Amino acid sequence: MAAGKSKTVFFCKECGYESPKWVGQCPGCKEWNTMVEEVVSKTKTASSISIGLSKAKVSTLSDIVITKEDKISTDIEELDRVLGGGIVPGALILVGGDPGIGKSTLLLQISRLLSNKGQEVLYISGEESQKQIKLRAERIGEFGDKCKIYCETDLDAIRQTITNEKPNIVIIDSIQTMYVSDISSAPGSVSQVREATAILMRLAKELGIAIWIVGHVTKEGTVAGPRVLEHMVDTVLYFEGDRHASYRVLRGVKNRFGSTNEIGVFEMREQGLTQVENPSEYMLNGRIDNASGTIVSCALEGSRPLLIEIQALLTRTNFGLPRRQAQGTDYNRINLLMAVLEKRVGLNMSDQDAYVNITGGIRITEPAIDLAIVLAITSSFRNKPLDTGLVAIGEVGLSGEIRSISQIDKRVLEAKRLGFTTCVVPASNKSSLEGVDGINIIYAQSVDEAIKNVFK
Ligand code: TYD
Ligand code: MG
Repeated sequence: MAAGKSKTVFFCKECGYESPKWVGQCPGCKEWNTMVEEVVSKTKTASSISIGLSKAKVSTLSDIVITKEDKISTDIEELDRVLGGGIVPGALILVGGDPGIGKSTLLLQISRLLSNKGQEVLYISGEESQKQIKLRAERIGEFGDKCKIYCETDLDAIRQTITNEKPNIVIIDSIQTMYVSDISSAPGSVSQVREATAILMRLAKELGIAIWIVGHVTKEGTVAGPRVLEHMVDTVLYFEGDRHASYRVLRGVKNRFGSTNEIGVFEMREQGLTQVENPSEYMLNGRIDNASGTIVSCALEGSRPLLIEIQALLTRTNFGLPRRQAQGTDYNRINLLMAVLEKRVGLNMSDQDAYVNITGGIRITEPAIDLAIVLAITSSFRNKPLDTGLVAIGEVGLSGEIRSISQIDKRVLEAKRLGFTTCVVPASNKSSLEGVDGINIIYAQSVDEAIKNVFK
């Protein structure tokens, strides 16, 4: 390569940070060992590839007319909520997730539903052959003639096809397999992935096509992760879940057309993904009666309350240094809550190993589950089971006080709906719960008071 024509720079494959030389820790996202070298050639980039957007004109806001373009509903309620009501034409939507979690399955199901409603869908795969997609499609159901499959990785050809076919919805599975021939680095590299997304974004905005992009989350190798693209797209959804459990959570992380933090819960079945309409019930499946160290709490995911089971197990430690382990919640938070129990309630747990687990594989870091964690730990330490009809909600402060939390009524009502009989809540939340009846409510000001009230 002639000097001056091309140069190499280092990109962080996590966040896309650019640096002229190699560094061990990315200054952008503080991750270690994520910088990869890439050649950037000085040829055309998306900004110079004309697809006709350059004829933009300046207008005053009052001159711009909004044609009431309805959001397209996907008919999957769990998905519509995460999207903020449906798909907006011209939107660029990123779906990230670990390989094998079900991204292609979800998008093929979306293709099926939308094409059956009369939308023209073009599913572009760079990972599977048409036959492989057909095999998957057969598990999912009947497809009409409005869903087209196209196996291609060259973005020039893809751009041509999209411009010719003018579909309503395009799916790119996955962005890491696509390449722009003007860029010399390999498919999946930061510069390729960014450039490909820039081209797709212009296509989406210019032609009013909603484009879905699949991005694999990768831990090793030089493949750029979906975080590199987050700032370029309109909506970012992450598909997560325990590979060993069958449920999957679709989480909205960014949304220019609706609220974020919404989640949709799905279950992976033989015929693809089905929505779980009652996730609280799902999370509590398999609870046993009269076991010590278990209690239910209610977290709020977006606008929806979710009941979860918290388990704690304390056993005598075999070494001088007790082991503490947290699964599904923050490890440091567990240490802090145990310190509060030692100091404010007087439980001496320095010779105890402690394991805290949120069942179902879901991850909750909301402080509203603090009180439940504290009660589960106490229950296991004393080896006394708690009432199975009990739900605990509240944030625990360092003085052992129970602090008020938001939207307590929603949470208590969800507990009531699922047949729980008693709720321990912060005393300071009393005024928000005046209208709620049909469930026993215990107000507690401190951890000590809560413990005295629930262990009879
Ligand atoms: P896939 O959508 O290929 O994952 P991704 O695109 O995120 O890499 O999901 C593959 C997994 O889903 C695979 O382990 C098989 C499973 N699966 C089912 O359990 N039922 C189904 O109907 C389908 C299509 C897949
Ligand atoms: Mg896939």
